[in-house]
Parts: sequence; C-alpha cells; structure tokens
Amino acid sequence: MRSLSELEVSGKRAFVRADLDVTIEEHRQGGERDFSSEVLTEGVLRLARLKQTVDYLLEGGDSVTIAGHIGRPIGESPSLSTSRLVQAASKLLGTDIEFQQDIFQRPNNRVVLLENLRFFEGETTNDPEFANRLASNADFYVNEAFGNSHREHASMVTIPRLLPAYAGLNLEREVKVLSEALNKPAHPFTVIIGGAKIDTKIPAIKNLSSVADTILVGGVLPKEIVADSIPLPDNVEVAQLSENGLDITTNSQERFAEIIRRSNLIVWNGAMGLFEQGHSAGTKAIVVAVKDSQAFSIAGGGQTIEFLAKYNLLDSFSFVSTGGGAMLAFLAGEKLQALQVIPNQP
Ligand code: 3PG
Repeated sequence: MRSLSELEVSGKRAFVRADLDVTIEEHRQGGERDFSSEVLTEGVLRLARLKQTVDYLLEGGDSVTIAGHIGRPIGESPSLSTSRLVQAASKLLGTDIEFQQDIFQRPNNRVVLLENLRFFEGETTNDPEFANRLASNADFYVNEAFGNSHREHASMVTIPRLLPAYAGLNLEREVKVLSEALNKPAHPFTVIIGGAKIDTKIPAIKNLSSVADTILVGGVLPKEIVADSIPLPDNVEVAQLSENGLDITTNSQERFAEIIRRSNLIVWNGAMGLFEQGHSAGTKAIVVAVKDSQAFSIAGGGQTIEFLAKYNLLDSFSFVSTGGGAMLAFLAGEKLQALQVIPNQP
C-alpha cells in the first residue's frame, strides 16, 4: 500500500476515513440527556491514533474531512451522532474541528467531522452514487480506519477507487506489525476471543484455528455456541460461564491462564465477561497471564482497548491494534478489500 508520507499534500483537500467507533458515556442533567457535555470512555485510542495523520495533512494541506461511523444505527439515531465526538477529538488532535451534518457539503472549516456515515443507507450498501458525492469534495483519500477495513462499505472500498488513495500513518504501522506476526508466527500461538458480535467472531474462530495452535473463547460467545450447537474445530476451547453467565468461571480462568503462559505469540480480542458492569475477574486473569508470559502479544478492538485503558493495562501488550474483527480477519490471512484497493505504486 502506498503511504501518505509519499504524497505532497500542499493545497490539497483530504478525505480521511477514520476509526470513530468508540463508546461514549452519557451525561444526564435533571433526567434529561445532555448531548453537549458527553465524555468519552477510555476507548479514545482510536481517535488519538489519528493525530499523526491529521498533523501531517495540516502541514500545507488545504482541508481535512474526517468521516467514519459509530455503532450500527438503523437510520438516524442522535445517541450515535459523531457530533458527540467533536469536543474530545478537537482536544485529542489539538485542532479546531467543525461538525458537518450535511455530509455532501463542501468542508466549511479547515478540519471538519462528518455525521455518522452509517446514518445513510448508501454507506453500508456500498452505493456508488453515495461514494461519488462524498468523493467530489476531496482531492485524495486516506484510510485511517484499520478497525473497519473488513467492511466493504462505500467509504472503505469505493471512495478509494474514485480518488488517489493512501494508507494513513497509523494504518501503515498496524499492517506492518500484524504482517510480521502473521508471516513468521511464533509457536505456541494462542488466540483469545471474547466479547459479543458473534456474526464476526465465529468465522474468525474457524479461520484462525488453522493458523493458531489454540483458540480460547469467552465473553457472550460460549452461551451462543452452546445454544445454537455451533460446531468448532478441535483446537478451540470454549470457557464455562459462571451461573449468572456474566463472566468465565475460575476453572476456565486457570485453564486459559496456563495455556497463555506457555505461549510465544498471543492475539486477544474481546472481554471474557461483562466488565462494564463489574464482571472483570476473567478478563483480568487473562491479562495477568499475558504479562507473565514471554510472548509477543497483540490486543485489539474497541471494547478490548477500553478494558485495558480502564485498568491502566495498555502497556501489558507488545502491540495494541485499533482493529477487533478486522485484526482477526487480517491475522487469519483474509484479504481485506479496503486494504487491497490502496495501490502499491507511488
Ligand atoms: C469495529 O469496531 O470492529 C468496527 O468499527 C466495525 O464495526 P461493525 O462490526 O459494526 O461493522
């Protein structure tokens, strides 16, 4: 993929597809939602990783349009509006950012943040006309959304075919680190998968079972695997859940920790329990075991980053990727279309 660092940005308008899919805590005043004073939870790493690219683009560039999605909205949903990120993003990126509700309008500030692209059907249906209208306000395209690169959506795979496309500086680094791990995987190679999003995780578990030695599964997944009798390869170990189903049992924690400690390469995505509601023991046990191991360790994904940031554990891993499902797909050897459409030649 050609790097943004190869482009002379002077006088040009950039369209940056960013990873904005972060959790936002709501503030309430007198029982009313107060959208003006939202605070982001700890999962700000995805936003912070944009900084290097935005700084680069602002050195002489004309304007920077930042676009992305939050969640899986059906139509417009105020709680998932990217307007809620403006304050935090301005602070994290150290620049004045203007929110732009009309996503097809010309940028009305040097740096603008477009409304959640998933409010528009054309994004997820990969509508060429939708992509064309967005592309018409920029001179080049930057993929700085590694975490969404497994989605064949308009802003991921079609705009980069309409404009000269470049890999963002963080995306480039992510792909480099993950490629090195994938090309020479150290063994024993253990993958830990938790959280929810069963639609993305089951295919990832199946694909990764052919490259990893062991896959450990926790979070919401064991319940669904048992309920739907989902068949899994022999090297997949599914945790037992505690009675309330909100965390993995102590036995499973110990079993998983033992496997993790013996590993030389570890990839982790998704919490073992509902830590957001205090059920954090299983996930903490996993992280402690990773720290105890000698392995090269990679963690990734929005919820995973939130956990690590909340307990000040980001340093426990050799590398933290912004991608969850995208990271798992990449490591399973899948060709991610959003990366494939970025040409190699300068
Ligand atoms: C992620 O967090 O994995 C990406 O933002 C993709 O989100 P999605 O699973 O809703 O497509």
